[in-house]
Amino acid sequence: RPHLVDTAAELRSLARGPERAVVMTMGALHEGHAALVRAARERVGPEGQVVVTVFVNPLQFGAGEDLDRYPRTLEADLEVAGKEGADVVFAPSLAEVYPGGEPQVRISAGPMGAVLEGAFRPGHFDGVLTVVAKLLHLTAPDVAFFGQKDAQQLALVRRMVRDLNFPVEIVAVPTVREPDGLALSSRNRYLGDAERTSSLALSRALRAGEQAVPRGPAAVLGAARQVLEAAAGQGLDVDYAALVDAEGFTEIADDAWQGEAVLAVAARAGTTRLIDNVALHFG
Ligand code: PAJ
Repeated sequence: RPHLVDTAAELRSLARGPERAVVMTMGALHEGHAALVRAARERVGPEGQVVVTVFVNPLQFGAGEDLDRYPRTLEADLEVAGKEGADVVFAPSLAEVYPGGEPQVRISAGPMGAVLEGAFRPGHFDGVLTVVAKLLHLTAPDVAFFGQKDAQQLALVRRMVRDLNFPVEIVAVPTVREPDGLALSSRNRYLGDAERTSSLALSRALRAGEQAVPRGPAAVLGAARQVLEAAAGQGLDVDYAALVDAEGFTEIADDAWQGEAVLAVAARAGTTRLIDNVALHFG
């Protein structure tokens, strides 16, 4: 079992080894989180230190979102983190992370934080980047791991690190999926049977888009939207399907566009909001 600490001071006193890796989470750990911890352990080797943070950050939840019902499973999280090779789990209290109450000074995600997820969740990415910045200061890692599952979050963390000179390397980990394609998420546990079935349209849409890559960007988006439209009648409320460049998250309008792209989708199944994406290469 990993060391469980809840203060920054204890965390500092446990620092050891040539390299420290951090995996930031909101807990309710599943195989997706486990893959991040595994990647972190592989990266730093037996001499390095792997820290997993568990903190449900109120700043990134909007009014009417699921902050209050977000699953909290610290005992099980310790098991998972330990099994995958974490040395330390840092699970701070709200007061430890926000000693002055609601922070007055925050990170602004900028234009990239206002599109796609940011358009549907105003302020979300400011809240994410503010806590990521704070956790980077508190954990002082050499390398931090983020999932491709949250592609816009990943791109914004990379951008923040570049724009604000954080001395940390960011490593992306591929999305872990159920055998039927559904991307693992702490929110999947909310899905009823019918919702679970309709949610499969997300990954199906991404696969359809992926197969259309040789026919260009417009065909990719068309193929994905066709799958989602078919599912819209069966209890899936689609928020968006978008094809954006992987670095800046601007929409790809030019059908001759070349480079690294992300096909991103978001939808609600009942009251549960699901996101998924796939990285694509054009040209
Ligand atoms: P959370 O949703 O708990 O996710 C923690 C990390 O696990 C993120 O980097 C996320 O992209 C990754 N992850 C989640 N599901 C995954 C999957 N199926 N495959 C691969 N990686 C997956 O993202 C957050 O928490 C928060 O916004 C946080 C960064 C901790 C800031 O509060």
